Amino acid sequence: MTRTAVLFLLLNLWITCLALQCTEVPGRLKQIDAGNGQVFGVCPKGDIFTLYGSSFIRLQGLLKHVSVGPAGVWGVNSTNQIHKLVKGDWVPVPGMLKQVDAGGKMFVAGVNPGGLVFCLGAEATTKYAGPGSPASWTQLPGKLKYYSCGPHSCWGVNVEEQVFLMKGVTPTACAGSLEWQQIPGALSMIEVSTDGKVYGLDSEGDVHQREGVAPCNLAGTGWRKINLSQKVRHVSYDLGYLWLVGRDNHITYCTE
Ligand SMILES: *[C@@H]1O[C@H](CO)[C@@H](O)[C@H](O)[C@H]1NC(C)=O
Ligand SMILES: *[C@@H]1O[C@H](CO)[C@@H](O)[C@H](O)[C@H]1NC(C)=O
Repeated sequence: MTRTAVLFLLLNLWITCLALQCTEVPGRLKQIDAGNGQVFGVCPKGDIFTLYGSSFIRLQGLLKHVSVGPAGVWGVNSTNQIHKLVKGDWVPVPGMLKQVDAGGKMFVAGVNPGGLVFCLGAEATTKYAGPGSPASWTQLPGKLKYYSCGPHSCWGVNVEEQVFLMKGVTPTACAGSLEWQQIPGALSMIEVSTDGKVYGLDSEGDVHQREGVAPCNLAGTGWRKINLSQKVRHVSYDLGYLWLVGRDNHITYCTE
């Protein structure tokens, strides 16, 4: 083989390796969250589902947003009341959020209907067992419409689709450094996985992965658009599976 032929072969192999294998799962959701090996989602009417084997089974209750991660399973309902899954029941938690994320190092974070950003430290998050347990939320500066946490950092987007990173988040200091770092790009939602991968969704319904994210470079290096055959409404990633809810509410997972 000539050198060109070898190069061409390698290039082909590389492209094939990058191509995603996507599989549709029966059911319809409007939002999905994967973390800690589990997958939860809510359907357009608010019914709550979790993946059990190869199909989604329904939990009791109604939520508009659900999240699973090291902090447990948390959700908010249509009137923005926060809930945590305790012994198979959704117990109410003081405070109001329109979106909550359980992906931090055993702490939760989220945004309220006014766009204010809050987090609840690991001690309160993990011990919360229902009304009576302490739950004092810490407010972060600024306003966001979506906020998601991973092991080392949290990422958010505001109503202008600007992207922000919060460093220094720890189980005891869930608010982090309190200084937002703006990241170039325009996104309408963003999700950080339990292993620290960052995926964003733009207003066109295209998914982008933040490249170069590492413990020593939390901001990463740039966005890479994921080549998908559909427009997406919600995205989440866990343990090698990229979970997508299409604009038609179909559920798909993709692997490399
Ligand atoms: C939201 O949650 C609260 C607290 O559990 C509950 O009282 C309320 O009925 C729920 N709202 C809806 C619309 O389900
Ligand atoms: C994106 O996917 C389409 C359809 O599967 C394919 O034809 C195209 O070559 C892909 N583009 C890249 C850059 O991988």
